[in-house]
Order: sequence, then C-alpha cells, then structure tokens
Amino acid sequence: MQYRAQRLGSVLPSASAGVSQIAKSLKAQGHDVIDLGLGEPDFATPDHIIDAAHEAARSGQTRYPPTDGPAELKAAIAAKFQRDNALDYQSNEIIVSNGAKQVIFNALMATSEPGQKVLLCAPYFDSYENIALLQGLQPVIIPCSPDNGFRLTPELLNAHLTADTRWLMLNSPSNPGGVVYSRAELESIAQVLLQHPQVLILSDEIYEKILFDGNEALSLAAVCPALKDRVLTVNGVSKAYAMTGWRIGYGAGAQPLIAAMTTVQSQISSGACSIAQAAAAAALNGPQDSVAEFCNVFRGRRDLVVERIAAIDKLELPAPGGAFYALIRCSELLGTTTPDGVAIDSVADFVEHLLQQYKVAAVPGTAYAADGFFRISTATSNDLLATALDRLEQCVAQLT
Ligand SMILES: Cc1ncc(COP(=O)(O)O)c(C=O)c1O
Repeated sequence: MQYRAQRLGSVLPSASAGVSQIAKSLKAQGHDVIDLGLGEPDFATPDHIIDAAHEAARSGQTRYPPTDGPAELKAAIAAKFQRDNALDYQSNEIIVSNGAKQVIFNALMATSEPGQKVLLCAPYFDSYENIALLQGLQPVIIPCSPDNGFRLTPELLNAHLTADTRWLMLNSPSNPGGVVYSRAELESIAQVLLQHPQVLILSDEIYEKILFDGNEALSLAAVCPALKDRVLTVNGVSKAYAMTGWRIGYGAGAQPLIAAMTTVQSQISSGACSIAQAAAAAALNGPQDSVAEFCNVFRGRRDLVVERIAAIDKLELPAPGGAFYALIRCSELLGTTTPDGVAIDSVADFVEHLLQQYKVAAVPGTAYAADGFFRISTATSNDLLATALDRLEQCVAQLT
C-alpha cells in the first residue's frame, strides 16, 4: 500500500520536534539527556493568563469561535499592534490561528499558484520551506553569508527576485540566526520590494520581545507604509508569554488577504481553541512584566552561551541579537575522529555523537540551510544549560 502522496515529495517533519522526540525517548529509557532541540520557553505561563482560561471555560466559552477569531481577542491584537508596532489594523484585517505556523500555512495556501516561488533567507525556520513544498510551491534559498551576520542585503534580494516570486519570508529577530534588522536595513530591503509589486512579504515577528543589546523591535509594515498592503505581519503568544502549548498565533494584513486566509482556515480547523483565545487576550491585555523578565533571563543565557563557546576551540558563535537560539559554527570539527574511532564527517555525525555519548540534543544546521553549523535552544534552565555546555566542551575536546 502506498500511503505517502507525491505532494509530500521531500517534505520533512519539523527538525527540532524530531530531535526532541528522540531526546524524550532516550529520557524515557532512563538516560540523562539535556534537550536543547525544541525552541520553547521553559517558564510557566503566567498565572493571570491561566486564570483567564479557567474563567472562559467556566463561563461557557466552549462553543465554536468565529473562524477568524473572537472580537475581544482581535481588539487585544489591534491594541497590541498600536502599542508595540505603531501599526493600525482593523478587525477584518486580523486572523487568529492555531499558532503562527498555521497563519503561515494559510497565507501561502490562500494566495499562491503551484510552482510559484517563495524566497527564504538562509538560515531560515525550516517550516517555511516545508510548508511551501507541501503546497507545491518552489522554495528559493537566498544564502545570507555568516560573514555578514546572516543578513539579507538589497543586492542579494534583487538577485533572487523573479516574475514568479510570490512571497518573501522575512524573520526578525530570526530563528535560528538571531538576526535583528535595523530600520535602515529594512528601508533598503523595502526599496527593492517596491519595484516588485507582485510579491507579498511575510514579516514573522514572533520573537520581537526577545531582543538584546538595545536592538529595537521593528515591523516592516510600519517602517515602510507604502508596502503595508503587501505585508502579512505575523506574531503570536507562544514565545513572548511562554504559551507554546496553547497554539495561538495571529496575522494582520490587507482585508482581502485575511478573507482568503479565513476561507482556508474555515475548512481546515474552523478556527483556534476558544479557551486558548481567551487566554491569549488576557496575555496581550494584561500586565507585561513577565515578558521583560523572560527577556532578561534569555539575555543572561545568551551571554553564558556566547562566553562558553568562545572558550571552546574549533567552535564559533557571534552573539545573537535576539530570539533564544545559538547557531554555532562547527565546520572545523569535520574530519575529526571520536575516541571510539568513529569518523565525524558531517554535522549530523557530530550532533549524533553529542547526543549518544554526551546526552545533549541539538539540531544540525542543515535543517535550516546552514551546513557547518548546529543549533541549540537557550530556552532551558541556567543549570541545565551550563551542564550541557560542560558536556559539549568535553565532547569537542575529545575529538582528534
Ligand atoms: C520563526 C518562527 N516562526 C513561527 C514559529 C511558530 O510559532 P507558533 O508556536 O506560534 O506556531 C516558530 C516556532 O519555532 C518560529 O521559530
């Protein structure tokens, strides 16, 4: 029996979820594994958000919600965009979905014809590529050089835009590279995009609250208002409020775009969980202290990782400007051998050795089109992170 449709082609399951799954099963077998695979804050969702969910469930918010999200949550999202991003969106310019991931899926599905191109700035969030492939779209990888901090430049963008480019996926702060674009950079990227009116831009701002070194959270649609009707601004509560399991993300853009995405969503999921949506409204409307506290903790961990990696020969990590990942260059380890005589010929070999022998789970950079690198998530406790870094150091020291 053939189960896998041709449409799935080379579509891969989420790389980080796969690594985490292996880590979990090793843990279940009694191994002391530290999972630095999955990108999710280790903090508890703040109490007032959980209370709002209880209240929603008890007060009867248990029926199908409006497909594109309830009015209360859309109002909270509109207020958030005004407060944080200097963006005005009306209710019919906003959609709430099951995580930012579904917003991305809906957007591509609602707007693209088979074979159209989706530009990805490597290294990129692997779901962009796999969602595009799943829908018969053609991912086009823009190699953003590590020597330029993995940044998209106007020249690179110009060189990859064609008549059949439909989307540019822009992510700042970025997963996995921690790239944060400045206003001047966004303006210069926008100048190129203004010359290509057929292109839609997905501005994924899900890590906007996790910024370091005085970096500013900037929305492309606010930086370049002339592009606003071609930008889908994507965000969600997963990362900022430690709510990955609640599965609430949102997108804002031109009303016809949102209407088309709502049609897709109405046939896929009928909308997001009513109780989680009430919790998301409480997160956006309520006290924001925990957001700043989380960011401070992430900054401390980023500093720890940068400092420790700098002291490990053959590994390299420029300080990420935001988000909670470290994309570590390990190409100098290729061609080495483990104490047991196993050849480390690829990053996958290294990551496998690190997991099996040192019980630290990390994701090979190939998942993000960053060969020669591996990614760790710093969204784990300081103690575990420090132990994982000790193990990483020992692992590297024993390769010859
Ligand atoms: C860049 C980026 N966008 C979107 C998402 C998905 O977020 P959500 O949990 O809201 O689906 C992730 C999750 O890792 C991400 O890294």
